[in-house]
Amino acid sequence: ITLTIIDREGVKHSIEAPTDMGMNIMEVIRSYELVPEGTIGVCGGMAMCASCQCYISNEELLNEKNLDEDMMLSEAFYVKDNSRLSCQIPVTSELEGLQLEIAPQ
Ligand code: FES
Repeated sequence: ITLTIIDREGVKHSIEAPTDMGMNIMEVIRSYELVPEGTIGVCGGMAMCASCQCYISNEELLNEKNLDEDMMLSEAFYVKDNSRLSCQIPVTSELEGLQLEIAPQ
């Protein structure tokens, strides 16, 4: 699927993400090195650090937040209405065209 991701410098990237590798969006961002190493995915995708926070433009493509995600976001910085933890979003074909911006560190 094709995703549009705006990095922390404001640069827009159009990237291809595989739906058959069990990846989540945080891992995609990491594998394309869209942010410096060590600044995303600090907790390893356990919804415990918020380093993978993103702002989602087309939220209607996503499922509801799970409880862990909701709780972590309630404690995180820079949270907006459309904040999500990208480690809690599996890459699936439903997400074709998803647009998101990586939140500040
Ligand atoms: Fe830690 Fe997503 S990687 S909350």
